[in-house]
Amino acid sequence: MNILDVYWGENLVGAFSRAGRNEYAFKYSDQWIEKEDAKPISLSLPKTSETYDEVAEYFFFNFLPEGFYRERICTALGLGSIDDFGLLSKIGAECAGAISLIQHGQKVEESGYYSLININNIVETNVDISNIILFEGDDLHFSLAGAQDKVAVKYDGVNLYRPIGTAPSTHIVKPQNKIFNNTVELEFFAMKLGDMCGLNVPQVEIKYIKDQPLYIVSRYDRVILQDGTVAKIHQEDFCQALGVDKLNKYQKDGGPSLSTCFSVLNRCAVPHAAKSEFLKMVAFNVCTGNVDFHGKNFSILYSGEKPSLSPCYDLVPVTIYPKCKNTKMSMDIGGAFDINSITVKNIKALADTVNINRRTVSDIFEDVCSNIIDKAPQCLKICKSIIKSKSALKDTGRATFESTKRATQIAHCLGKGGA
Ligand SMILES: Nc1ncnc2c1ncn2[C@@H]1O[C@H](COP(=O)(O)OP(=O)(O)OP(=O)(O)O)[C@@H](O)[C@H]1O
Ligand SMILES: [Mg+2]
Repeated sequence: MNILDVYWGENLVGAFSRAGRNEYAFKYSDQWIEKEDAKPISLSLPKTSETYDEVAEYFFFNFLPEGFYRERICTALGLGSIDDFGLLSKIGAECAGAISLIQHGQKVEESGYYSLININNIVETNVDISNIILFEGDDLHFSLAGAQDKVAVKYDGVNLYRPIGTAPSTHIVKPQNKIFNNTVELEFFAMKLGDMCGLNVPQVEIKYIKDQPLYIVSRYDRVILQDGTVAKIHQEDFCQALGVDKLNKYQKDGGPSLSTCFSVLNRCAVPHAAKSEFLKMVAFNVCTGNVDFHGKNFSILYSGEKPSLSPCYDLVPVTIYPKCKNTKMSMDIGGAFDINSITVKNIKALADTVNINRRTVSDIFEDVCSNIIDKAPQCLKICKSIIKSKSALKDTGRATFESTKRATQIAHCLGKGGA
């Protein structure tokens, strides 16, 4: 039997084990159960003495990388690509949030340090920076979900360091996507615009290495303490919180819809604040053409007694890609799946489904629309002062145009349709 000790920071919480080929179990330790102020690791795994099977499997495997990115990691580590447990035992020491998965018996505090990623002094041209930051040097020691290439690093504004073992990272770095053009610049644009529109967005920047851009976002689930050490704050995505398999992250596959997301928000410290912040994110995704807002693109953060909605991540205006041709949203808005078919009726229906006053929902959408119309030109100006490639500038220009156009259309239909 394989056993992974589950830590929350430096505290042992329980054990996640594999008994047979597809048989998994998680049990909280007696110590954790008896400790009154110790919290459950997930809304889907209440603190009881029960042995959890399927729901625990979903929770832990939701930490894992996905798609082609996962395949590349498995190849680099010499693992078969379908062994979730094997992969998690290799890379689960540094995950999203505060959970670390460590081989049973190994001491958590003895297993962390940093190693410099040598990219600042590269002299060769035509070198593939993404391969270097992902795979050169030490083995990968972190597990982050999503299908885009990414690395969890410690970043001091100049150098990138690879965290080894349980050493906490401070930033996430995404290199340019190899299929879709200019993802670095477009994600930077949308995150920056979100920030300018008043959404809760972590700090983002573009760092160029040999003219190749890297998207760098600061981790909102890490805090640098006064003595320079990095503390982890726990978070879980909505699939984890709802006990949904990572393979079902889309509503069409049985994954979270907006109304199930609202059942998570009901568990937050201040539900009405979390709900209006969440609706702002949804409205922003709609206007900017980020159709890919599935259940793993929202999280809750455990910084206080009860969870709160996490800041935004993964805002990418994907509808501008002619290659993508995808206008189908991951979750329906009051019955509309096509992003171009949303009317005032759908926004009213959304309000009814999530049980919020129609006027309030309409006001949130209108507010986001007018902020986008107001701030998009200024955001493009910032992008122009940073972005080096002509094609990326053209794409951010298109994203600005399309976002403003959709925001204007929605604001217009809300103004005419009332609430
Ligand atoms: N700034 C951040 N701070 C903390 N955690 C983050 C941050 N950004 C992303 N994450 C975590 O990393 C995971 C993957 O991030 P992200 O969604 O950006 O990846 P992706 O590969 O672009 O996803 P997708 O497959 O949806 O395109 C998220 O589910 C979240 O847990
Ligand atoms: Mg994502």
